[in-house]
Amino acid sequence: MLDVYTQIASIPIGYNHPALTKVMTDPKNMCSMILYCVIPGRCTLLTDSNPRINGMKSNNSSSYMTGGFSRVQTMACGSCSNENAYKAIFIWYRNKMRGTPEPTPEEVRTSVINQVPGCPDLTLLSFMGGFHGRTLGCLATTHTKAIQKLDVPSFDWPIASFPQLRYPLDQFERENAREEARCLEEAEDLIVKWNQKGRHVAGVVIEPIQAEGGDNHASFDFYTKLRGITKKHGCAFLVDEVQTGGGSTGKFWAHEHWGLDDPADIVSFSKKMLTGGYYQKDSFQPDKPFRIFNTWLGDHTKNLLLTEVIKVIKTENLLDQAKRSGKVMLEGLYDLQDKYPHLLSKARGIGTFCAIDVKDEDTRNLLLLKARNKGVVLGGCGTQSIRFRPALVFKEHHAHLFLDIFNDAITELK
Ligand SMILES: Cc1ncc(COP(=O)(O)O)c(C=O)c1O
Repeated sequence: MLDVYTQIASIPIGYNHPALTKVMTDPKNMCSMILYCVIPGRCTLLTDSNPRINGMKSNNSSSYMTGGFSRVQTMACGSCSNENAYKAIFIWYRNKMRGTPEPTPEEVRTSVINQVPGCPDLTLLSFMGGFHGRTLGCLATTHTKAIQKLDVPSFDWPIASFPQLRYPLDQFERENAREEARCLEEAEDLIVKWNQKGRHVAGVVIEPIQAEGGDNHASFDFYTKLRGITKKHGCAFLVDEVQTGGGSTGKFWAHEHWGLDDPADIVSFSKKMLTGGYYQKDSFQPDKPFRIFNTWLGDHTKNLLLTEVIKVIKTENLLDQAKRSGKVMLEGLYDLQDKYPHLLSKARGIGTFCAIDVKDEDTRNLLLLKARNKGVVLGGCGTQSIRFRPALVFKEHHAHLFLDIFNDAITELK
């Protein structure tokens, strides 16, 4: 099988990479409790219940982190990374409002019975079409499919529109700029209104490309302006790189494409990073241990593998590889949509993080099945999109092979 989906973007350097096999069979690593937690660029001794490891200092000099993040907190999965990042945001915001991390006796008393002021009525702003996970807090900011949310109580938090861009982009520049301006205005308006009614917007959470929601892109200018709005109104900016992080866009983090010195306050990750977690600025580090804590703060063995993955990405120059393979993919997708205009549209992407729309959901699903039966694993997203999420070792000849098979699958539809 040619896997162009990799368990929803979660196999960074392909199956059975020798570097990873070596780590797993290294006798040094053959013990029941591995004590070394290796965060990109740093090796730290840890034991699980040692609260001092919470939000440990990350050494950015040899890692892929940019943007002034001083700390990293590992977690087990994408949802619990965001869930805890949300908590860190609320703690940060409340300390800011109070002017001190010391709570009043009333706050302490009411916090254990889910009442204000101990459990303040703070909110997070998210975007329609966004996906941030399926735990209760995350689900309140996830707005993709009803099946993920139905019957589950949720927070009443503000939701802004995400730009619906028209394609091809170069033919709709004016319309798309107008659409992005509308969404930015709406987001800022919501922050102002919710602050005014006392339900302060502590943070804004967004994906650099909405993945589950249908591979929805917005321009770098949109994200730059949104970042400006969060700073203006004192909201934290959480960039969810669970799906976009790890190199597939041709940069290690998709937010690097924005070219900002201060792109975010927190960046969450998982999937290609193998461990979940988030990078954060110093100010988001809670003042006391156990405020952010789970028994399993990630998995040490995943961190060992991640260290190796990062080395391979560097030595095999896989970010450039993603750019080259992505170019072949996207050009091939443009050709296919020209060839089958009644069937395919909106070819889009950056690096190998590409997608294309099919005329309707049933046809999309049929196409996924036909491709699978011809040996290509693909995935859907949104209502009628196909998303491509190959590993970073996906080369130009894999892209050509994929395009040929995809073309054959399409011809069988007719
Ligand atoms: C952008 C984004 N955030 C969060 C999550 C949740 O991650 P997990 O499934 O590991 O909980 C996902 C999963 O697809 C995701 O794509």
